[in-house]
Amino acid sequence: MNRREFIKTAGVVTLGLMLDGNLTEAKPNMKISAVKLYDGGYMMKSFACGGGLPEGSIKEEKLRSSLQNYVIDTGKEVILVDTGFPAEETIPVTKDSVITFGDKVKDYVDALKVAGYEPAQVSKILITHKHADHTGELRHFPNAKIYISRIEADDMKLTGDNVVRTDFTDGAYKNFNACQKIADGVYYIFAPGHTKGNSIVIAEDGDISYLIHGDVTYTDEALLENKLSVVFEDMSAARDTLNRVRAFIKENKTVYLSTHTPFGYENLDNKKIMELPDIEETPVVEEKADTPKATGTKWVCSVCGYEHFGDEPPEVCPRCKQPKSAFKKA
Ligand SMILES: [Fe+2]
Repeated sequence: MNRREFIKTAGVVTLGLMLDGNLTEAKPNMKISAVKLYDGGYMMKSFACGGGLPEGSIKEEKLRSSLQNYVIDTGKEVILVDTGFPAEETIPVTKDSVITFGDKVKDYVDALKVAGYEPAQVSKILITHKHADHTGELRHFPNAKIYISRIEADDMKLTGDNVVRTDFTDGAYKNFNACQKIADGVYYIFAPGHTKGNSIVIAEDGDISYLIHGDVTYTDEALLENKLSVVFEDMSAARDTLNRVRAFIKENKTVYLSTHTPFGYENLDNKKIMELPDIEETPVVEEKADTPKATGTKWVCSVCGYEHFGDEPPEVCPRCKQPKSAFKKA
């Protein structure tokens, strides 16, 4: 191209941008990818769908299980949602396990590379909640801003200038009460229940909403059947959050991105818009508050987040049946 042609072409581009009302740059393309960590595991339906229900009321079956997180590339920056499970830890599997991850696919950083990103490219991390399978590899990102709800950050005793204790002060997002806008089209939303400071992430791409929800449900079966898992710190908040998530999906074209089921990456690959049947919520029995004495050492189950206080962890997790070795000192 000679100089005259170049000037002419540049002029057309500039005019195009001016007509577009955007003098700076064209709209970047958003890309969401799964960070695949484990696959081929199982979970029992009573674990995934039995929250607040009497024992034996769920017809038992084994459902598929996996572990993956997500990365949002807005075209301008790379944002992680959760950071996997610690590479050096393994989850014991026994005949009583009610959830397993399956076989390791990759450690977190290697899985991120498979998705096409180096840790140094990451500018922000959004943490859905404190559990070890969502926060396990934060140590690899000392220069990224870590957004985490104040409740979870305080519970984890997180320190560092890069930790952004989030109070969700940007007002409502659609039918959710409180959000923090993270980037154009990316919203970090308070959605308590699974844990007291739980949050979800919604990324808008055109008319599609990608809903990355941590553990609001462990499986898509629970979403479809409108049932809670047995893991929650506040059952009525968990019910309210699931109701809002379902209402959102009914009103907005939504791709539902789960952490613990292969439906998560399959829905993403197929850009599957979730369709929900109208199903009444199942009346639940308010769980008698399981309030262990908050004295002594705090032990946390790596699989389900159950908290136990005392000199020793329990022999078996009362919630997910993992053996003593699954407990870590908090
Ligand atoms: Fe969790």
